[in-house]
Parts: sequence; C-alpha cells; structure tokens
Amino acid sequence: MPRIAVIPGDGIGVDVTREAVKVMTAIRDSGIDLEWDEFDYCADKYLETGITLPDAEIVNFRDNYDAIFIGAVGDPRVPDMTHARDILLGLRFKLDLYVNYRPVHLLDESLCPLKGKGPDDVNFTVFRENTEGLYSGTGGIMKKGTPDEVAIQTSINTRKGVERICRHAFEYARANGLKKVCMSDKSNAMRFEGDLWQRAFHEVANEYPDIEANHWFIDALLMQMVKRPEQFEVIVSCNMFGDIITDMGAQLCGGMGLAASGNIHPGRTSLFEPVHGSAPKYAGKDVANPLAAILTVGLMLEHLGYPEWTPRLEDIIRDMVRNGNVPRDMGGDLGTKAVGDWVSEQVSKGAREQGSKGAGDALSFRT
Ligand code: NAD
Ligand code: IPM
Ligand code: MN
Repeated sequence: MPRIAVIPGDGIGVDVTREAVKVMTAIRDSGIDLEWDEFDYCADKYLETGITLPDAEIVNFRDNYDAIFIGAVGDPRVPDMTHARDILLGLRFKLDLYVNYRPVHLLDESLCPLKGKGPDDVNFTVFRENTEGLYSGTGGIMKKGTPDEVAIQTSINTRKGVERICRHAFEYARANGLKKVCMSDKSNAMRFEGDLWQRAFHEVANEYPDIEANHWFIDALLMQMVKRPEQFEVIVSCNMFGDIITDMGAQLCGGMGLAASGNIHPGRTSLFEPVHGSAPKYAGKDVANPLAAILTVGLMLEHLGYPEWTPRLEDIIRDMVRNGNVPRDMGGDLGTKAVGDWVSEQVSKGAREQGSKGAGDALSFRT
C-alpha cells in the first residue's frame, strides 16, 4: 500500500494541506489503498527547537514512504529561509529528485489572461532541472558587511545532470505522443554552462528523431509563452530558469492557486508540492486556494501508479469554473474549506456512481 509522508509546513501550506488530505481521504474511501502520516517540520518547530529536517528523517522517508507531500514552507520570522531551504531543497538534493515536473495546463479559457487563448493553446509541460545550477549552494561571501564585500554564487552544471533531465523530457514526450521538446538557456551570454546544455540537449535529441528539438533563449522563451503558447509541448530548462518559467506558466492558467508540481526521481520516493509558497498574509484566514494542492495530489497519485486521478480532479475543477463556484483568487467566493469539501464530495459522488454502475453491470451479468 502506498505510504505518504505529509508535511503541511508554514502559512497557507497548513490550510491547503488540510484540504488536500480531505480529498485524499475521499479518494482512499473510494477504493484506493493509501496511508499517510503527518510530520510537523515548519518554522514554529525550527524557532522552538532549532530542528529543520534531520537527515535521519530523510532516510526514514526514503526507506519507509513512497511519496512526500509538502504544503509550503517559508515564514517571515526566518528571513534567511534556513528551515525552508533544509526542508525543501534538502529533500530535492538529498533524495536526488532531479525532475521538477510542472504541467502548464489551462483548464478553461476564462482562466487565461491572454486574449483569445484556450485550453488547446496553453497545454505544455515544463521539466526543470532540480538538483544543480544556481541552486547548488556553492559560493560564499567575503568581507561581509564591509564596503569591499564580495558575494559569489556558482552555477554547477554536470554532464550527467543536464543529460538526464533532457532525456527525461524526450522520454516523456515519446510516452505521451508529443512531437516537440524545447530547451531554454542563456547560452548567448553564459557560454560555459550554455555550451554544455547545447551539446547535451542536441546529442540526446539525436536519439529521438521522431521528436522535433528546438531552442529559445530564456528571455525570448518568456516572450513566446505569452505571444504563441500553442507552439510548446514540452519545455526543459535549468533550475533557476525553470523556477521562473513555471510561475509565469501558472499565471497563464489562472494563477498560483492552480499550479501543481512534482519533484521526482523515477522509481524512487518523490516529493509533491504546489508551486506556490506559504503566502503568509493569507494564512489561517480561509481564503487560500487549495486547488493547486489538490491537483498536486493528482500528480502524486500518477507517480504512485494511479494516473486516472489527475484528469478526474481536472474535470471536477472545470465544472467548478463553469458554474462560477470558485475560490476568491479565481473571482468567486468559496473559502478554502468549502473548496476542499466540494471537491471531496464530487470525488465521493463519482465513486458512488461508478459503484452503482458496477453493481448494475454485475447484476445484468448474473441474469
Ligand atoms: P507565494 O506563492 O507564497 O505568494 C505570492 C502571492 O501569490 C500571494 O501573495 C497570493 O497573492 C498568491 N497566492 C499564492 N498561492 C496562493 C493560493 N494558494 N491561493 C491564493 N493566492 C495565492 O510567494 P511569495 O510571497 O514570494 O513567498 C512567500 C513565502 O513562501 C516565502 O518565504 C517564499 O520563500 C516561500 N515559498 C515557498 C515555496 C514552497 O514551499 N514550495 C514556493 C514559493 C515560495
Ligand atoms: C519553488 C520555490 C522554491 C524554489 C523556493 C521556495 C526555494 O520558489 O518551489 O518554485 O525556488 O525552487
Ligand atoms: Mn518558485
């Protein structure tokens, strides 16, 4: 039975995780074997005890759980993000979760800020390299606090790391019948890492002659995402650019309240979290949109071998949008808890309908 470690975290992470767990409960009750335990790693714990996320716990997650779900981490009382870095980046790096999987999938035309663009136009998947680049933590500060201060942050790009994320993007395209993979970098200005990304990408692309490989510099890519998003099927990029691409991608689909993500090492314990952060000003006010967290449950179930849940959850959300029954950031007036209640009810209703259809079928078979 799949086991999940749930970390609500900070701010609205707690609010949205409560609703995601509600939906997970409805899914489990509809017949999927799932089991989860909650862990209290967050800013409060760090401020009280100095504990962020112990290595032994990461080993426990790796050995005894199939997935980890995080709401969000980040708290204004910890301005240097020590605990959030240890929890989020710690898990990504220490579990070698090299694939940051972020679908940019518009569910309804009314959610898109671009004039005349609909679900067929904004429908691509971003693979962000998740263990290297500017996030590697290499660098330092010299002469801190003096007029001669120097800060260095080094971008690490390994052949193995770049190649495996590019290959993952092509494999995903092939497995899903897609025909185009676009790589984005800044090789016109950053020529060393750019050179490696260009060579690795094109060498991997040569192994997939059935898939068209193309390239945009990151500045032009963001411009193209607004101008002609329909040209994209799969985008692959480095850690930092992938972070930026996916916040903008979220906005093309209706905002941060709807953007889901997975941090994956295929075949291993992986981490799932909404793209958004802890939005401290909305914490505990029943206003945060839990749909990103709920869609993240769908991505997690996909990883756990139940890919049917993402389209089912998307259908439920599409219905909500068409009925105007949506949370505040999407222009409606549903509170956080009401959204979770509604989605869970629809999941349970769907399961009852399936059940009675199944029972009917069985009956007609017997007669
Ligand atoms: P944020 O995503 O928390 O919020 C930015 C804005 O987006 C909010 O003010 C709000 O207007 C909107 N928003 C985001 N999620 C929403 C939701 N579910 N419902 C409704 N509106 C929503 O980004 P930020 O303000 O830059 O960061 C706040 C904290 O979160 C920081 O500490 C940051 O480092 C951290 N952070 C954590 C994660 C993560 O845990 N994965 C991701 C991004 C930021
Ligand atoms: C994200 C977040 C994180 C990142 C932060 C909180 C370190 O923005 O998951 O996109 O930059 O990866
Ligand atoms: Mn981000």
